[in-house]
Amino acid sequence: MRQIILTGDRPTGRLHIGHYVGSLRRRVELQNSGVYDKIFIMIADAQALTDNADNPEKVRQNIIEVALDYLSCGLDPEKSIMFIQSQVPELTELSFYYMNLVTVSRLQRNPTVKTEIQMRNFEASIPVGFFTYPISQASDITAFKATTVPVGDDQLPMIEQCREIVHKFNSVYGETLVMPKALIPENESCSRLPGTDGKAKMSKSLGNCIYLSDSEEEVQKKVMSMFTDPDHLKVSDPGKIEGNTVFIYLDAFCRDEHFAKYLPDYKNLDELKAHYQRGGLGDVKVKRFLNAVMQEELAPIRARRKELEKDIPAVYEILRKGSIEAERTAAQTLSEVKQAMKINYFDDMELIQEQAKRYSEG
Ligand code: TRP
Repeated sequence: MRQIILTGDRPTGRLHIGHYVGSLRRRVELQNSGVYDKIFIMIADAQALTDNADNPEKVRQNIIEVALDYLSCGLDPEKSIMFIQSQVPELTELSFYYMNLVTVSRLQRNPTVKTEIQMRNFEASIPVGFFTYPISQASDITAFKATTVPVGDDQLPMIEQCREIVHKFNSVYGETLVMPKALIPENESCSRLPGTDGKAKMSKSLGNCIYLSDSEEEVQKKVMSMFTDPDHLKVSDPGKIEGNTVFIYLDAFCRDEHFAKYLPDYKNLDELKAHYQRGGLGDVKVKRFLNAVMQEELAPIRARRKELEKDIPAVYEILRKGSIEAERTAAQTLSEVKQAMKINYFDDMELIQEQAKRYSEG
């Protein structure tokens, strides 16, 4: 079977390093691995509108930000099809049919939707579109016959729900849709990179994100003021690495070769952690190391972004071409879906002739 990837992001802001270690970096590796026959990367503007209906301008402005972030991380339009969700109307049509296969109570049990509803204080005023976005996400995945969906682990309930829809569709209408599987980050720190203040989630409103487009100075400032172990007051004190943001970031970013280059007193992260836990290792030293590691990784991304920013129309052209190609693929799946559901009346000669015969006899 052909190996196909689909994944995407909501354009509600610039992408940060949580997106990067949780998914972008992996996507680029997958893209370059040569294992996949097709890769679709979607800017999920329609999904972003499900909880930003009154702020379309925010979504509109952030499409270019996300596209610039994609390209600067190394997603390559020659290898990956980047497109805008709303420009593929077939996705909406699929959702309408999938809605019949999902119950309200099943949507209410989706843990990601549950937390998001709490976070947004929707209480009794949940927009229907928001409530049903897991169904629309199933359309995104199945329209492209994706076998693999690389996502952060907060998205696992969405993939699970999609799998249920695929199963249900295929058992009611016959084998049509491809069963996808999620591909989640290799380590827990990459899955859930906390904010620089140690809070569980990076969020623009908390001001605790490091963005891919941040300058060298901004990154340094954010790293040097990062939350560590609040009880590690003196250098000689033993320190905790659990819940210590600096070490979580090191888990996500550093490799053994970084030690040889920037901190040769240690062979690897385990040695550094052991010293910190024993006591005698100050936060500043560890932060300086983290800063060096992160700057090394982010500098080329920042430089590419600067280049891309010089030709914004070219970036839109990439998205336009991608959207045309994406639509072609989704239209094919939609036609298979309609055929399976027997709502392809005009192509269904058997139906027309059988009814013609019945009426002429009657
Ligand atoms: N829900 C994803 C996010 O919050 C974005 C998204 C929309 C997506 N459709 C998708 C991800 C399909 C993977 C597959 O970022």
